[in-house]
Amino acid sequence: MSREKADIKDLGLAKVGQERIEWADKDMPVLKLIRERFEKERPLKGVTMAACLHVTAETANLMRTLQAGGARVALCASNPLSTQDDVAASLLKDYGLTVFAIKGEDRETYYRHLNQTIDLHPIMTMDDGADLVSLLHANRKKEVSRVIGGTEETTTGVIRLKSLADQKKLLYPIVAVNDAETKHFFDNRYGTGQSTMDGIIRATGMLIAGKTVVVVGYGWCGRGFATKAKGMGANVIVTEVDAVKALEAAMDGFMVMPMNMAAKMGDLFVTLTGDINVIDKEHFKLMKDGAIVCNSGHFNAEINIPALEKMAKSKKRVKYLVDEYILPGQKRIYLLAEGRLINLAAAEGHPAAVMDMSFANQALSAEYMIKNYKKLEKRVYPVPMEIDKNIADLKLKAMGITIDKLTAEQKKYLSSWEMGT
Ligand code: ADE
Repeated sequence: MSREKADIKDLGLAKVGQERIEWADKDMPVLKLIRERFEKERPLKGVTMAACLHVTAETANLMRTLQAGGARVALCASNPLSTQDDVAASLLKDYGLTVFAIKGEDRETYYRHLNQTIDLHPIMTMDDGADLVSLLHANRKKEVSRVIGGTEETTTGVIRLKSLADQKKLLYPIVAVNDAETKHFFDNRYGTGQSTMDGIIRATGMLIAGKTVVVVGYGWCGRGFATKAKGMGANVIVTEVDAVKALEAAMDGFMVMPMNMAAKMGDLFVTLTGDINVIDKEHFKLMKDGAIVCNSGHFNAEINIPALEKMAKSKKRVKYLVDEYILPGQKRIYLLAEGRLINLAAAEGHPAAVMDMSFANQALSAEYMIKNYKKLEKRVYPVPMEIDKNIADLKLKAMGITIDKLTAEQKKYLSSWEMGT
């Protein structure tokens, strides 16, 4: 379906989408508090925003919050396979949002949708992976001059934007939402851990207990997933290139080894590195018959799929989101979700309770940008500490948890150097 204001799959899906948006909202109390304040204060009044995010029920609640703040938002997908079509329908029908997103869209449609959000002349961007910022900088330069700032959701996006800034080519300031403690400590670790496992199980139905699971990368996402796999009874191997992270993995109780050893042992391989070809041609050659391979990093570049395609004698889809590749010698390799992020392609992304904090950071960073852009340089900025701390306080409160406060004596002790042994 295509209409001036939107390009979505089917407006008829809106009812289910709305139910899911409401269901997610009950687990997003911090975002709700912000939405209620935004309704009164309207800090984003008159702001046109282009948002390139995974189109999920949780994102819908962020969109509602930005709208409550007075923004006019156009939303497109940040991945061709992550859109929840029912949510996209409801956003258009029930919330009057401009949406360009269809699950399974091809590359051309994906970029057409990004361009359509830019056609609305945004003054702010909200990205997950930095595709919108890259497109603006590479192909839509005329539009960049009106943009006052943006935010970025994910590790991969922050890395790309910092590289743009290092080359002095970034044309407006960005707040790196990913780097807030209330974002990556929770979303990347517990969110990715749970939703990646959810996606693998939905796609394959496999029993995790007793399997050898190879976790490629031990950043926040990798350690989150490794912990879940261990908890479910898998023998977990971690591969790393960073000595400190490898040490942490070893002392967290995981086997650590190079990929060319792990490749021979794994039943299931999961990439969470943000890098390219971390599972490569030589690794496929070493894998066991029936090995399952998937990715939970932002881009579908972590597994060398072109090499796999070349090596394979044949390929067929054996099940929704499961492709079977037959290699010489009749060895079978199963690739999930075309190497795209398994947690959003096969499952529904991170739970709302964790996206609550990530998207509270997004909403408050957007407000911060509007209030402060005149003072900011064309750099990548952290989320201000007060915002991060405020979100932690609100989340604790929403969870019914109270904590101790420093006494005057303790405060004094912590700020002094005199007292020793
Ligand atoms: N990234 C990971 N999980 C997500 C979700 N549920 N919604 C939006 N972005 C996400």
